[in-house]
Amino acid sequence: MKGIILAGGLGSRLRPLTKVTNKHLLPIYDRPMIYYPLQTLCDAGIREIMIVTGGNNAGDFLKLLGNGREFGLPHIAYTYQEGEGGIADALKLCEHFASGDSVAVVLGDNIIQNSISAHVERFAQQRTGCRLLLKEVEDPERFGVPEFDGERIIAIEEKPKVPKSNFAVTGIYMYDNRVFDYARELKPSARGELEITDVNNAYIAAGDCYYDVLEGWWTDAGQFESLYRATQLVAEERMKKALAPA
Ligand code: DAU
Repeated sequence: MKGIILAGGLGSRLRPLTKVTNKHLLPIYDRPMIYYPLQTLCDAGIREIMIVTGGNNAGDFLKLLGNGREFGLPHIAYTYQEGEGGIADALKLCEHFASGDSVAVVLGDNIIQNSISAHVERFAQQRTGCRLLLKEVEDPERFGVPEFDGERIIAIEEKPKVPKSNFAVTGIYMYDNRVFDYARELKPSARGELEITDVNNAYIAAGDCYYDVLEGWWTDAGQFESLYRATQLVAEERMKKALAPA
């Protein structure tokens, strides 16, 4: 399985912080934002990783991460997304890198408390399809929101005004290689983007979408409030670890 971090887009919701630099280079407590999704993939044992950058200061990712030695990696692959065509548009740039393999995709602004290893293992046992990670939230209208029939997801709505559940589809997705076929078929949404939610709905329509509910905290960091919250959560975590008996 290959790992992909989507760190493209223009970070418009964080202006003026993102006027001269890339959102994923902003600090979350003591590290640049991009370190967190990279660590998430490394902790799950994924060694072949591609980062999609975009917008300002794309070259700074190379300066910061190089070939990933700090993360114990032998190499990192990079590519560049022009503009802000959407998450699925950024993912399409990774088809060549995936070269027929399945992929674990993490959005560059998603930060979690725990390892995703168990979920990655469960996905590996699944022969086909996708595996999504959900989290119960207080503000589902900000996210992709699943609608359930019993335990089964029957649809996902992107940023619904009236959410059909209290769950968010987090920005951590595992896909078989069909994801690139589905992505190729997408049409831009009302906000002019190729939506990852439409990819996930294609898997649902094919009867091949599975999910787990994430344990531990999860947050995005794409708005001022969530950027601040991410820093607080990471700071608390570091302090807890520092105080824990050896
Ligand atoms: O955080 C989880 C949510 O992320 C999901 O619940 C939603 O279904 C999904 O659409 C996404 O929603 P956002 O509106 O929060 O996504 P945003 O535009 O903030 O982009 C999140 C990351 O995706 C961003 O940090 C980098 C990457 N991205 C985004 C866009 C628009 C790209 O690589 N390229 C892009 O063009």
